[in-house]
Amino acid sequence: MRLPFFGPPPAPAFARFDARDARAAAAIHAEGFARSWSAVEIEALAVDPAVFGDAAREGRPGGPLLAFVLSRAAADEAEILTIAVASSARGRGIGKALLARHTARLAASGVRALFLEVEETNAAARALYARTGFAEVGRRGAYYAKPDGTRADALILRRAL
Ligand SMILES: CC(C)(COP(=O)(O)OP(=O)(O)OC[C@H]1O[C@@H](n2cnc3c(N)ncnc32)[C@H](O)[C@@H]1OP(=O)(O)O)[C@@H](O)C(=O)NCCC(=O)NCCS
Repeated sequence: MRLPFFGPPPAPAFARFDARDARAAAAIHAEGFARSWSAVEIEALAVDPAVFGDAAREGRPGGPLLAFVLSRAAADEAEILTIAVASSARGRGIGKALLARHTARLAASGVRALFLEVEETNAAARALYARTGFAEVGRRGAYYAKPDGTRADALILRRAL
């Protein structure tokens, strides 16, 4: 018999982001960003027809939200608006698997180039994007104001789909 509190966590289940997840998504977003988005802001994005959203849940469809990604598409280009994994679920490959699923769906809908902006000092996000084929195409100097009063550059990354 396997006790429920031992062993690896169940593999995540992936599905489209649902506006009803906005509150859970806002909590995950607040764990990942100093300037967090409210549930109302996330819900507004989720119902925007130009916005594509994907989600990872614990174990099964309908399980608790672990991660989400939102992108806005225009013609054959799209921009990742945000991606966040719950802090308790990071480092398990969920961000990479979610991004793979998301980029496949964008490509299937005709998107040919995907852009995003990342803080230069965000090592985890830069590792994720380096592993998934994004390359630097621009930089905005001192773009982010950090909580400690310093500023960090924003990198613009692009990936062909
Ligand atoms: C960035 C983020 C989405 C990554 O999600 P994750 O599920 O922890 O990432 P994964 O486990 O899928 O790791 C993907 C790759 O990045 C690497 N990586 C992840 N975290 C890392 C870290 N802190 N330092 C170095 N490399 C890291 C992994 O080793 C993996 O590489 P591999 O495929 O060669 O093994 C997550 O850390 C997060 O939500 N951060 C807060 C929000 C954020 O910064 N979003 C991005 C804004 S642009």
